[in-house]
Parts: sequence; structure tokens; C-alpha cells
Amino acid sequence: MPEIEVILADITTLQVDAIVNAANSSLLGGGGVDGAIHRAAGPGLLEECRSLHGCKTGEAKLTRGYQLPARFVIHTVGPIWHGGNQGEADLLAACYQNSLRLAADNRFISIAFPAISTGVYGYPVDLAAKIAVTSVQNFLKEPSSIEKVIFCCFSQNDLDIYQKILLSV
Ligand code: APR
Repeated sequence: MPEIEVILADITTLQVDAIVNAANSSLLGGGGVDGAIHRAAGPGLLEECRSLHGCKTGEAKLTRGYQLPARFVIHTVGPIWHGGNQGEADLLAACYQNSLRLAADNRFISIAFPAISTGVYGYPVDLAAKIAVTSVQNFLKEPSSIEKVIFCCFSQNDLDIYQKILLSV
């Protein structure tokens, strides 16, 4: 049975097949985890991202990891929170599903997610974490190469929320 783990860490330090980047639709970098990943990966990452010509909300695209310990980066664009009545939940679920699909298609074994959309994009963490856990658990019901999914939290508060959800499902 694939393992789901929740940790408190800087995602740019994780030695996994792929870390997921909470990017914006330009894929040309930004603040938050996007900025941290580009800083740690070095200029080669931006160069490859330029060749991808952006990414739609809910979709996911793959690049190499460059100077990151992770072999690859899966860039996905989360929804901006507008109160919850503009399809945000389905778009956020799609980020997790499409990232996992891309990882499985590439025969990856381990993948780490940040709390997509819960920073600059304003998605309430408790609602987003529920979607993250549910989407991952549903995906892992089907056989695939993925053996480990890490939810990489950047605050104790987020870690507590994810752990509570994982214990309750
Ligand atoms: N490691 C793990 N998680 C991190 C890190 C890090 N080094 N840095 C930030 N985070 C966390 C934030 O604390 C938050 O919980 O990632 C989560 C997502 O927050 P953002 O990075 O702000 O991403 P998001 O809310 O999806 O907004 C995306 O912000 O950075 C820009 O270019 C990005 O326009 C896009 C938007």
C-alpha cells in the first residue's frame, strides 16, 4: 500500500523523484514556494519553463530538477480563492490528480506536494488540505508506480491540520 506522509520542511530540500511547484500560469516564477524552488534549482529551471509556454489552472507540466535534490519538478497552477463558488474545489483537486497522473506516467516512485493555493492564492488551509488528502487517497486506490506521497507543510499550523485530516479519513 503506498504511504502518505506529512512533514514540516522546506520542499526544496527533499530528495524525491518529483516535488510539486505551486506555480502561476506563466510558469515564469514568483514568490512563495515557486520562488524558493526557482532559487534552489538555479537558472536552468526558468529556461526550461520558458519552453513550456505557460500552464492552465488545474493542469500540470514537468521539468527537470536541475540543482534541486529532487530529480524533477511538476509545476501546477492552483485556483485563486474567490469564496468557493467559482469551481475552486474542482480545480484544486485537478492539480493533485494531474500532478499524480504525470508522476505515474513517468514511473516516479516518490512525490512531494506543498499546500497548493493556500498562500498567495488565499485558499483556506483546512478546505484545501481536505481536498489534497482526498484526491491523493482516491488516486492511490488505482495501481501505479507511486509508493510514497509526502505533504510538505511549511508551518506547524498546516502540519496539524493535515495530520488531523489524515487521522479522520
Ligand atoms: N517549502 C514548502 N512549502 C512552502 C515553501 C517551501 N520552501 N515556501 C512556501 N511554502 C508554502 C506556503 O507557506 C503555503 O502553505 O506553500 C504553500 C503555497 O503558498 P504559495 O507559495 O503562496 O502558493 P499559492 O498560494 O499556490 O500561490 C501561487 O504565488 O508564488 C506565487 O508564482 C506563484 O503566483 C503564484 C502564487
